[in-house]
Amino acid sequence: MNATAAVRPMEAADVERVVAIETEAFTSPWSAETFETLLGRDGAELWVLDLPDAPVVGYAMLWCILDQGELANIAIAAEWRGRSLGAFLLDRVLEVARDRGVRSLYLEVRESNAVARHLYGSRGFIEVGRRADYYDHPREDARVLLKQF
Ligand SMILES: CC(C)(COP(=O)(O)OP(=O)(O)OC[C@H]1O[C@@H](n2cnc3c(N)ncnc32)[C@H](O)[C@@H]1OP(=O)(O)O)[C@@H](O)C(=O)NCCC(=O)NCCS
Repeated sequence: MNATAAVRPMEAADVERVVAIETEAFTSPWSAETFETLLGRDGAELWVLDLPDAPVVGYAMLWCILDQGELANIAIAAEWRGRSLGAFLLDRVLEVARDRGVRSLYLEVRESNAVARHLYGSRGFIEVGRRADYYDHPREDARVLLKQF
């Protein structure tokens, strides 16, 4: 399946579908206005994952500032999870970060998010900190992870 998956820059026309995925993935989702504001903003990298018969099954957002980056958001539509698409998208996004000169890429992840933590660990992220009560709905600590290139 991944041979036919493709990652491309997000466009304004993708935002409605992205927000639908965002809303099913997160309890405090970003709004369409947030994505629209980020599109074209310096340092913001927004990418979507297309399948041949299913456009926009996932997306990711990165901040890149000089040699520092943050993976601020990544999600795959619920019906497409568990088919290596998240790993495929993350790998492409890591290439984007590296190509922009990022040497240290940070992210936060819910303690209970075993799938995401497993995925990040498999891509070389290590835990460098914790933020108490970082998340709401439900309240939960974040693990801070770092990947160095
Ligand atoms: C996290 C997320 C992007 C991963 O995408 P995905 O397409 O479901 O994941 P993949 O199929 O690429 O699998 C990645 C790894 O997790 C494992 N995995 C996937 N689903 C799993 C499950 N339900 N239980 C246990 N492991 C699972 C896979 O086996 C794979 O590991 P492996 O390479 O060692 O076999 C996706 O689950 C998602 O959108 N979740 C909701 C949003 C979210 O939590 N984003 C991250 C915020 S920090």
